[in-house]
Amino acid sequence: MPFVVVVGIQWGDEGKGKVVDYLTEKAHLVVRFQGGNNAGHTIIVDGKKTALRIIPSGILRPDTRCLLAGGVVIDPSILIEEIKSLEQNGITVTPKRLGIAGECPLIMPYHIGIDQERERKKSLTGTSIGTTGKGIGPTYEDAVSRNGIRVSDLVYLDKLKEKLEVIVEGKNLYLKKVLGSELEYSAEEIFKLLTEQAKIIVPYLSNISQELARAKSEQEFVMFEGAQGSLLDIHHGTYPYVTSSSTVSGFACVSAGFGPKSIDYVLGICKAYSTRVGEGPFPTEDTGYDGEKLREIGREFGTVTGRPRRCGWFDAVAVRKAIRINGIDSMMITKLDILSGFKTLKIGLHYLLDGAPVDDLPLSPSECGKLQVHYEELEGWTEDISKVTSFDELPVNAQRFLIRLEEVTETKIGGFSVGPERSQTIVLSDDIKAFSKNAH
Ligand code: GDP
Ligand code: IMO
Ligand code: MG
Repeated sequence: MPFVVVVGIQWGDEGKGKVVDYLTEKAHLVVRFQGGNNAGHTIIVDGKKTALRIIPSGILRPDTRCLLAGGVVIDPSILIEEIKSLEQNGITVTPKRLGIAGECPLIMPYHIGIDQERERKKSLTGTSIGTTGKGIGPTYEDAVSRNGIRVSDLVYLDKLKEKLEVIVEGKNLYLKKVLGSELEYSAEEIFKLLTEQAKIIVPYLSNISQELARAKSEQEFVMFEGAQGSLLDIHHGTYPYVTSSSTVSGFACVSAGFGPKSIDYVLGICKAYSTRVGEGPFPTEDTGYDGEKLREIGREFGTVTGRPRRCGWFDAVAVRKAIRINGIDSMMITKLDILSGFKTLKIGLHYLLDGAPVDDLPLSPSECGKLQVHYEELEGWTEDISKVTSFDELPVNAQRFLIRLEEVTETKIGGFSVGPERSQTIVLSDDIKAFSKNAH
């Protein structure tokens, strides 16, 4: 049974949660490997909606164990809230069902304050990133500068108190002097809160790397669930308008502690058009009628912040980049149903910069802002496709659209999705059918 990595190959919100939920019926383990509660993954099963922020999307499958690998940043309050909310909805989240790596950095209240105050200050000069304000960037910064608090610190509370006193003093100074903020944190209050939270979180501690080594040797089906999207990757994304973690498939190995040769399959999740939340380059953005129509019909409003998502057409250059940096084996095309009723559909084929062709996103945001996109236009369809259960049942223009996406990205389409429900998913690839149906 394979190790499968699932990643978003645009700017996030591609429908990763829905696809992971669908494919994990037979999975032994589902592992989140980066990001934190900046993610919002919406899953709908038999009309019942679950919005997950931190716990892997495999949690809705009762026989599947979920893991949070060391590259995930955890806000303990949000984690505890999510566990409680799932349990209120009849989904038990015992330590048998969820394991957490001790290496996970913890999001502290001052990280959230710093994230929000920085954005406020930057907004005065028009340079904000449009972060989710959940403290993600400041937490990863502290992890890298070795000033972080990790889940494993919750085991040694006596040492944590001293550590917090030094850190919080520095953060208060930074908030006041550098950010001109009135926010002030108390090490004692944070310590008190963590002491309570530790009682709930510590029982979930697990050695993820060892669990995965065992799973590999016993040929289990393990799915690694990415958050955000490849074009928000800290290294390869549209820097500085990115998130603060590596969102690409290779990071699954780094985060969870296994070698790259163990990955058997990389599945890219991709909308039939494009969206982006927050600031930053978006070459195929449509700020006119079509963009508005995509947002309305596609209900493109952020799960986490409720912000309207920016919308536009499929960008083949950006998706080709994402395919390259992830080593994508096949793509799942989501939200194909949203395109029903558009007379003409567009695919961004390549860019022009000052009249010269460009086949990658430039590193400079100002150059990205100057890109002109060369579009191909395809005839749309009017039929409702939300009840389609096979490729053959699609209107011929929808079939042509999918085939064209395959051609322009030079990547196989492993399946497509025609609605938010678990059941509105059509798998085409035999590889995906095999790993999602035959395990256990
Ligand atoms: P994620 O962050 O990648 O998991 O995606 P989100 O959950 O943030 O956003 C995707 C949204 O589209 C959710 O509201 C899903 O319920 C919805 N969705 C997923 N696939 C489809 C689809 O094929 N058709 C429609 N209409 N909605 C979909
Ligand atoms: P899922 O997993 C879409 C965006 C934010 C902002 C930038 C940096 O649901 O696809 P951060 O708070 O991470 O420092 O914000 O990244 N962003 C997302 N956009 N979907 C997400 O997650 C996102 N997570 C972060 O809007 O532009
Ligand atoms: Mg989302």
